[in-house]
Amino acid sequence: MSVTIRTLQKRKQDGEKFSVLTAYDACFAQLVSEAGVDAILVGDSLGNVIQGQTSTVPVTLEQMAYHTECVARGNRGSLMIADVPFMGAATVERALEASTALMQAGANMVKLEGSAWLADSIDILNRNGIPVCAHMGLTPQAVNALGGYRVQGKDDASALEMLEAARTLEQAGAAMLLLECVPRELSARITAEVAIPVIGIGAAPECDGQVLVMHDMLGISPGKPARFVKNFMAEAGDIRGAFAAYDKAVKDVSFPADEHCF
Ligand code: KIV
Ligand code: NA
Repeated sequence: MSVTIRTLQKRKQDGEKFSVLTAYDACFAQLVSEAGVDAILVGDSLGNVIQGQTSTVPVTLEQMAYHTECVARGNRGSLMIADVPFMGAATVERALEASTALMQAGANMVKLEGSAWLADSIDILNRNGIPVCAHMGLTPQAVNALGGYRVQGKDDASALEMLEAARTLEQAGAAMLLLECVPRELSARITAEVAIPVIGIGAAPECDGQVLVMHDMLGISPGKPARFVKNFMAEAGDIRGAFAAYDKAVKDVSFPADEHCF
């Protein structure tokens, strides 16, 4: 049976966790969904792990649509979320155009990076049958404005702003939120205060779901892994086992541990 937005809403209501992994092609998408992972994110992290870029800024809508089509062919029933790439939410018109392309490529939901200002786009997308996940906290497309990949919401003022933005976006009709590199306490508070499912990465075990970049959790991304990454390949021994171990660890709340949080 396919996972839908309702499946994930029900998980939150029942206090059960859900797992998300990125995928960018058909073979890996099939393994991820067959391992029981609830949702697949076609992330613009493909700029880093597929293209070898130093950020997600160069990734285009055409490339996102191509990888979304590839993933859709391999997917076996996981919910498919696709990233709206750099500048795709700059205007409502651009958000509509980008989301149309990604939905027609096979996505079930789009993810937009931003904050409270996404409300207008989310409202119009919603009315047109496109559920939106709003990605807050560390938004990698804004790396140049943020001055690096840093934890967000560390001081009281920015924490309050993020909490209020979460409420605003829920009000605007966001289907889900994603928190990246947000302190554990703030992540847990936001998750508790909104009724919509919240996905965490570098956030908190209290979040309703967790996501990791596939290459990171398989231990094949070059360089020193981020604090929030766990290598599931090391124990599992093979790729299918790593995906299944990740799914289990998210659902029994053994991942993320304290050492993966800020
Ligand atoms: O592009 C991506 O993989 C993402 C996750 C890191 C959340 O946006
Ligand atoms: Na992304």
